[in-house]
Amino acid sequence: MAWYDVFSNFYDASLEGLYRPFREAAASRLALAPGQLVLDAGCGTGQSLDVLSPAVGSSGRVVGVDLSAGMLARARSRAAQKGLDNVRLVEGSLLTLERAQLTEHLPSGRGFDRALAFLVMSALPEWETASARVWELVEPGGTMMIVDANTESIGLQGHLVNLMARADIRRRVWSHLERVSEGFVLERLAAPYSVGGDIVIARGTKPSR
Ligand SMILES: C[S@@+](CC[C@H](N)C(=O)[O-])C[C@H]1O[C@@H](n2cnc3c(N)ncnc32)[C@H](O)[C@@H]1O
Repeated sequence: MAWYDVFSNFYDASLEGLYRPFREAAASRLALAPGQLVLDAGCGTGQSLDVLSPAVGSSGRVVGVDLSAGMLARARSRAAQKGLDNVRLVEGSLLTLERAQLTEHLPSGRGFDRALAFLVMSALPEWETASARVWELVEPGGTMMIVDANTESIGLQGHLVNLMARADIRRRVWSHLERVSEGFVLERLAAPYSVGGDIVIARGTKPSR
């Protein structure tokens, strides 16, 4: 993940303002509550921690997982600077992620109440594997959400975004979630030109046992 280690040096300066409204939109649709356990899958520099951590409070926990040590270092600084004490950060790949890697962060041994993958799946050619791994970690009755840039007809800006993020924003990265979840909802929000397409917010609930 050498590219994201480099990108970590200018990621926040380039993108924080652009995506902030969509993070807030995602958080409001996640129906977060104090005490919940939340997975921030591919947390990057931790921009989503700003909206997730306060919503679950001191009795809750947000676990961020990312493959890039550089992105995680930024997330650690952010959590420390902002006093986000309920955040835990783990270096690892979503493609191989297992519950055993996270047990110390899941106090009662249960799964996550909420899992968010924000601008991550489009950057993974093996996004179906990643989506299935994250889904495995969601508690029955819990919600998984995928937020990503997406377009069906890619233009110049879309190609630039793909190049910069090592992504392909044409991927229909919600389709695994759509297949396995209950109450699946897909929203397409208009986004500024620099996103390269729309913002898709997809969410679904894990059936109760
Ligand atoms: C475009 S950034 C998004 C970061 C963050 N979620 C956000 O909303 O700003 C994509 C992130 O996915 C991470 N990533 C890429 N492949 C990964 C993998 N296999 N496992 C975990 N994280 C991965 C990168 O390191 C990077 O931090």
